[in-house]
Amino acid sequence: MRPFAVALLIFAAVPGAHAGEQTETAAKDFITLCTNCHGVSGTGDGPMAKSLRHKVSDLTRISARNGGVFPEDHVFETIAGLSMPDAHGNREMPVWGDLFVTAEIGASTKLEDAMKASDHAAQRIVGLVRYIEQMQVKP
Ligand code: HEC
Repeated sequence: MRPFAVALLIFAAVPGAHAGEQTETAAKDFITLCTNCHGVSGTGDGPMAKSLRHKVSDLTRISARNGGVFPEDHVFETIAGLSMPDAHGNREMPVWGDLFVTAEIGASTKLEDAMKASDHAAQRIVGLVRYIEQMQVKP
């Protein structure tokens, strides 16, 4: 099993653990990593959006597109890269789960480091899920 998948097993236990800290990290992550494509407002009008083959999703209308319910598991999986929006593998959005883990473990080959990094990656993604949840427009 890939380390990231292992972290998901404990995903349910992490949300809210360090809520304040998580929100701050999420806001920073969103600005640095997501606004290029999704735009500061999340509507999909970032500077890079026009040069992509796919339309960049409007992140403020995920609930509206889903009958008024915010599908947090789907959003988590999409960001992490566990569920590919494009089944044929030409997803244009980076696979954040792998990137977060790789950035943290560097050259280490220790399982323990990989587990810790996966846990942190899962927490970071949970933060982003919450951040996106609070930008939903009322359906
Ligand atoms: C290189 C451009 C790019 C960047 C950077 C990017 N995205 Fe995306 N994102 C996309 C595209 C394009 C899609 C539409 C699906 C696809 O083709 O990959 C998408 C889809 C999504 C979806 C699915 C929405 C839905 O309706 O199901 C979520 C959630 C999402 N992105 C979150 C994020 C987050 C969080 C970040 C930052 C950590 C991010 N994206 C960074 C391009 C990007």
